[in-house]
Amino acid sequence: MIEATNLSKRYGDIVAVDDVSFTIERGEVVGFLGPNGAGKTTTMRMLTGFLPPTEGSARIHGHDIFDEPLEARRAVGYLPETPPLYPEMTVTSYVDYVARIKDVPRRERKARVDRALERCGLAQVARRVIGTLSKGYRQRVGLAQAIVHDPPVLILDEPTVGLDPIQIGEIRQLIADLAGGDGDGDARHTVILSTHILPEVEAICRRVVMINEGRKTVDAPLAELTSGGRTLEELFARQAAHDVASEGDSAPPNDAEEGAA
Ligand SMILES: Nc1ncnc2c1ncn2[C@@H]1O[C@H](COP(=O)(O)OP(=O)(O)O)[C@@H](O)[C@H]1O
Ligand SMILES: [Mg+2]
Repeated sequence: MIEATNLSKRYGDIVAVDDVSFTIERGEVVGFLGPNGAGKTTTMRMLTGFLPPTEGSARIHGHDIFDEPLEARRAVGYLPETPPLYPEMTVTSYVDYVARIKDVPRRERKARVDRALERCGLAQVARRVIGTLSKGYRQRVGLAQAIVHDPPVLILDEPTVGLDPIQIGEIRQLIADLAGGDGDGDARHTVILSTHILPEVEAICRRVVMINEGRKTVDAPLAELTSGGRTLEELFARQAAHDVASEGDSAPPNDAEEGAA
């Protein structure tokens, strides 16, 4: 459903993403975790076809981002870090505008827009101008534009950043609903969402892919990572500590201990 194969992105001397591969199966909700600057946004922009990788490739819903870019893009709903919302447009006109860009057939458009607004809890504010909405509602508009063409894959970049605790709860619930299908005939979406907020992952994700300094460090089911009472916090801290310890050191201390045991 989402297949990243040896993705790398370099900006001059900076290696933003370094040989990252993972596969996300249909219907999975995966947390893409890493500290600021880890390479999450860069990876997601490559998956959505917005940014060409320096090396490697990706397939979205079976479509290679190089060989079938239109099909690959069409299969993705993308909530960027800063959604390009037009503050002077109404919610409906904006989501309808995105539906047109995404080639939703004219005769289906109104129904799709209405459905996206309904699923995102926006029906009450459909005629409001986006600029007058709270940040939580603007984020809902960002989600509505991501799902309006009913893509099988959702790529959400820090969907709750900057929201208050109540808004965070609402957006998390909304993402969980989108991932699960909502029993109304809507398909389940495959979701990858980036965050550096660990409870967010625990609340909605089944699997975790962690990156640090551009490299993938963890790829495992959440249940496995937190088995034996370990918390994600501990794991996250240990990852960072290991990275510091292994800097400029060809034999990281952990490996040495294991070798001696
Ligand atoms: N356009 C760019 N030019 C140069 N460096 C960049 C650019 N975009 C991102 N980077 C660098 O790549 C690294 C990863 O950034 P990013 O993918 O935004 O991380 P994250 O989303 O995990 O915070 C950072 O060191 C960042 O400074
Ligand atoms: Mg980012």
